[in-house]
Amino acid sequence: MTLTEQLQKQYTEEQYSAQEAQLLAHLISWGPVVFQVARLLNKYGILQLLDEHNEGVTIQQIEQETGLSSYAVKCLMEAALTMHAVLIDDKNDVYTLAKTGWFLLNDPLVRVDIDFNQDVNYEGWFLLDEALETGKPVGLRHFGDWKTIYEGLSSLPEQVQKSWFGFDHYYSDHSFGEALKIIFRNEVNNLLDVGGNTGKFARKVVEYDKNVNVTVCDLPQQLEMMRKQTAGHPAEGRVHAQPINLLDNNMAFPNDKHYDVIWMSQLLDCFGEEEIKSILCRAARIMDDKSRIYIMETLWDRQKYQAAALSLTMTSLYFTALANGNSKMYNTDDMSRLVEESGLEIETIYDNIGMGGHSILVCKTRQQNLI
Ligand SMILES: C[S@@+](CC[C@H](N)C(=O)[O-])C[C@H]1O[C@@H](n2cnc3c(N)ncnc32)[C@H](O)[C@@H]1O
Repeated sequence: MTLTEQLQKQYTEEQYSAQEAQLLAHLISWGPVVFQVARLLNKYGILQLLDEHNEGVTIQQIEQETGLSSYAVKCLMEAALTMHAVLIDDKNDVYTLAKTGWFLLNDPLVRVDIDFNQDVNYEGWFLLDEALETGKPVGLRHFGDWKTIYEGLSSLPEQVQKSWFGFDHYYSDHSFGEALKIIFRNEVNNLLDVGGNTGKFARKVVEYDKNVNVTVCDLPQQLEMMRKQTAGHPAEGRVHAQPINLLDNNMAFPNDKHYDVIWMSQLLDCFGEEEIKSILCRAARIMDDKSRIYIMETLWDRQKYQAAALSLTMTSLYFTALANGNSKMYNTDDMSRLVEESGLEIETIYDNIGMGGHSILVCKTRQQNLI
């Protein structure tokens, strides 16, 4: 494992005293309700209220602001206290925000993750053991009868879609600007965006360069959303769509033109190892020595911060229980091996892209001009 220096310090040695470790174990055993209390402190605006009143807020003030009963407010605030989201001044009986509460309120990733877990994952987590044992995303069942969440994405209930896209876009949106600068260091005429989803990146590409053409490959349902969201864009004519089911090994990548760049952002983590090799091999078949694949992934062992590594390894279990049952957030060793086994070579790795800790692996083909 190639852990960053920062993570090595955290994960190779015991971090906690016995008392701290015991508290953490209890926080974990009460995890589901600790999560709900945190969610509701935000939902009812209690953390916001505390943030606006450094002098502290009484139970009665919280009752007035939220319209909740004294019983409800006491239950929430006493739980918030023992999970270290708030502090109490026991002389004046007023609550203030603790550091953890501040992050629950102000860390955008925490907010995105809370919505994602509540709306998309919560019921599915209940079936995690069955998903791990069968390799099937059985936690998806209550939403619909699909093999993967991607087939059902456009049919999920509105709030579920909102939280799914909020989660997906949080990570990629903040990295697209830096990624474009890296990609356009070389001349790009045609870019193939594999798993281009609703065309967010494609639109940024055509805005970035006035000549480039982009072809978005994805499932037909996603391309339909992409067409709607791209309609009326001044450069709509330079954004093309090519339906593909990447799980069908017989479906070749488009080779209607020479693609200088094959872009795969947060794509390979949606597939199991054998599927990744099939995707990369098919990409390699349309490459020559001038083409490059840019793989943008959040490799969990390359993160600077423990919080990021935690979010990513937990996200792996969303893939297990909800998304497809067989994919994960990969580490560098696994991803590099899959790239090599697909006849490709990693030329450069760019790290710390955007706010979500993305890396971009620039890959070239080891085969001679195959097209
Ligand atoms: C996590 S999203 C990433 C979207 C976008 N590239 C980004 O960075 O935000 C993965 C994308 O892969 C697509 N995808 C998943 N399974 C697929 C399949 N079997 N065939 C084609 N596309 C697929 C999904 O529809 C989705 O658009």
